[in-house]
Amino acid sequence: MQIDGSTKIVGVFGSPIVHTASPAMHNAAFAALNLNWVYLAFEVDPQNLRSALHGVRDMGLAGVNLTVPHKILALDCVEEIDAEARRLGAVNTVVVEDGKLRGFNTDGYGVVKALAEDFNLSLKGKRVVVLGAGGAGRAIAVQAGVEGAAEVCVANRTRSRIEPILTELNRIGIPVRSLGINNRDLRGVMPEMDVVINATSVGLKPGESLGLDGTLFSKRHHVYDTIYRPAETALLRTAAVAGAKTANGLSMLLHQGARAFELWTKQKAPVTVMRRALETAVYGARA
Ligand code: ATR
Repeated sequence: MQIDGSTKIVGVFGSPIVHTASPAMHNAAFAALNLNWVYLAFEVDPQNLRSALHGVRDMGLAGVNLTVPHKILALDCVEEIDAEARRLGAVNTVVVEDGKLRGFNTDGYGVVKALAEDFNLSLKGKRVVVLGAGGAGRAIAVQAGVEGAAEVCVANRTRSRIEPILTELNRIGIPVRSLGINNRDLRGVMPEMDVVINATSVGLKPGESLGLDGTLFSKRHHVYDTIYRPAETALLRTAAVAGAKTANGLSMLLHQGARAFELWTKQKAPVTVMRRALETAVYGARA
């Protein structure tokens, strides 16, 4: 990689950000297409998100991705919001265009591609449980509605965060239920559910678990965890032991990243190169 006076800069803002695999994926893609671009990771405190984004614009960066905990806050920090990001209620990709910060959301696209790839599954007509109602949870739950899910159950520790998701799914006309993340609430719905998607950050840290019981899961369930490191969270392990089909978030990270790459560079993303770079960065020799 040759950095010079015309290198275009993109990156990711998050907190914590040190373990992100996005730089490996995007920098491999730039190298494969011989683009003079670089992707960096920035630890940004939520209270500094607005000024950091103004810096992106004012210093002439091409854009950034946003991850935990910035995706919802960003709605108030960008100057234009793409229709899809507005509908999904969260921004995970910012593009600087004509000197303006424009917010997009590629998570909805990413999860749809991931479920198709890992499970050969479409959300149309499915009963879906989304665990989490932060930026990722909100985007995934609304996307499930957009895809024509038969029902969406949203479970979150802080129940009030589910409200905007209920409003949007009601608007689309999809039956929706609000639950707590606990065995009691989930036990009432799980026998009818087809797909479970974890969009909480629980499981990222070693030993961390939502504490869901194995008896909730059976072979009728497809369980997807947006977490990709560790490769198998406690949730995925519990579900797999109970006979459910499981997959981790590497495929969603890949596809949301490929779409972001295309928004920035206006070039087709080299998805195979990006996948290989991600697998090596995340799982090393195992890949
Ligand atoms: P993102 O925008 O990437 O989704 P976020 O907005 O910080 O990040 O959301 C994180 C999600 O993980 C939320 O659903 C959060 O639940 P709360 O809304 O109750 O905070 C969930 N989460 C984080 N830590 C949790 C924990 N210890 N138990 C249960 N849920 C947790």
